[in-house]
Amino acid sequence: SEETVSTKQQQQMVNIAHRGASGHAPENTMAAFQRAFEMKADYIEIDVQMTKDGKLAIIHDTTVDRTTNGTGSVGDLTLEELQQLDAGSWFSEEFAGEKIPTFEEVLDAYRGKIGILIELKSPELYPGIEEKVAETLMERNMHKPNNNKIIIQSFNHESMQRSKELLPSIPHGVLAGLSWADVTDEQLAQFATYADYYNPNMNIVTHDLVDRVHAKGMEMYPYTVRTQEQADNLFELGVDGIITDFPEYVDKHPGGK
Ligand code: G3P
Ligand code: CA
Repeated sequence: SEETVSTKQQQQMVNIAHRGASGHAPENTMAAFQRAFEMKADYIEIDVQMTKDGKLAIIHDTTVDRTTNGTGSVGDLTLEELQQLDAGSWFSEEFAGEKIPTFEEVLDAYRGKIGILIELKSPELYPGIEEKVAETLMERNMHKPNNNKIIIQSFNHESMQRSKELLPSIPHGVLAGLSWADVTDEQLAQFATYADYYNPNMNIVTHDLVDRVHAKGMEMYPYTVRTQEQADNLFELGVDGIITDFPEYVDKHPGGK
């Protein structure tokens, strides 16, 4: 109803910088995270994978080909090999020499300063990655309640169930691609047994879906917003926040800062 929409518009929209402020700086680099922090986003979204030698690295694709000057699969390269790559030049010369960050580096630089939405990217390729992420958070005492600006999400829902068992106090999210357009209430109820967020592709968001997700006690941060119009449409549908390459879009909303 119109009333629901206007109520929602009074509220703060959660502003999540997708792979950092990746419209302005090379995705998943410290430069992109710093830009998001300076733009006062609420969260940075990061993609976590595992190297050949079992270290956690921040990169989106399962190969380094698109976003670095190297080639090969993330899981076939050691951390040392990954860190020799240039992860900035592909975006623009201004960012030449940006490195692939480690998970630990991002946590240590940004915890307490900006929220961190941690995506486990293709965890099925990296057995044990849930445990490794949990250990890294626990070493920093970040697994307790009240550290409420950490969220873990994945398209791999079994991985999220496992992670929730390891980290029961940390909110988890289910990512839902286009194939989930017809998700049932039963499926949503099942997700809600371990997830606090249902984060769909923005193209399958409807007012009805928002209401049904809220009815199950979950919030919704759709991905990936790349225009102001997309942001405005989602705000009108009543979402709780957006995952966007351009954090400035949320500022133009009545609930923005
Ligand atoms: O945060 C959700 C979004 O990042 C999922 O898609 O491909 O950008 O990781 P992708
Ligand atoms: Ca992601």
